[in-house]
Amino acid sequence: MSLEAAIHVTRPSKRDAYLDWTQMLSGAVLILFMWSHMILVSSVVIGPGAMNALAYFFEATYMAQAGGPIIFLIFLLHFLLAARKIPFRSDGVKIAVGHARMLNHRDTWLWLVQVITALVILVLGAIHMWVVLTDLPITAAKSAARMQKAPWFLFYLILLPMVEMHVSVGFYRIGVKWGFITSGNRDKAKKFEYTLFGIFMFIGIITLIRFVTLG
Ligand code: HEM
Repeated sequence: MSLEAAIHVTRPSKRDAYLDWTQMLSGAVLILFMWSHMILVSSVVIGPGAMNALAYFFEATYMAQAGGPIIFLIFLLHFLLAARKIPFRSDGVKIAVGHARMLNHRDTWLWLVQVITALVILVLGAIHMWVVLTDLPITAAKSAARMQKAPWFLFYLILLPMVEMHVSVGFYRIGVKWGFITSGNRDKAKKFEYTLFGIFMFIGIITLIRFVTLG
């Protein structure tokens, strides 16, 4: 049986429904984490003292030491659950791109955006978490020293838009998939998705500039 035929005859089971729920819940947890993370890191814009005080709080309460690895595990779980649907073989990729072209609908292309950003985030996000969590305590001076090295600056310049795109599109797709976004409010939801992306990109860029200009 060809891969295309197999895709059409496979019936989703109850287990698939549980896995889909877990994928969505782990994605929602990561979205909330990323929004909080960006706001916490951007405290450096107020001043290095503000960032250091927040970092101290998260370490003194062991939230960084325990929360960091937990986020890392949720991150891996979310990827593994989503990977069930990613076509890794070239014939699967051809079918997915063919379907996106045939349907010619923005939301189908958005799924491909999610796959590509996910693969970049998997590698860069894992490196980032390892580097930060194996070099505790977090301080504004250490983060700034990292950001002021060209390869790390480039690293964050790639990771930031990938994460913000994945988070904003993911939030929109959760809404479509679970029925909060309908054809009636889809245009508003799209605007919200773009606004969300714009706001967090703005916060991220301002934070990057603050780090590289920190003495
Ligand atoms: C596990 C817990 C995490 C901790 C403790 C953490 C901590 C930090 C810190 C301290 C910085 C400042 C830069 C540096 O020191 O290198 C930073 C920046 C950043 N982190 Fe994380 N991070 C975590 C997880 C993640 C994850 C899962 C992602 C996305 C995959 C992520 C994406 C980013 C991005 C894009 C920036 C740059 C922000 C900007 O534009 O200013 N982080 N993080």
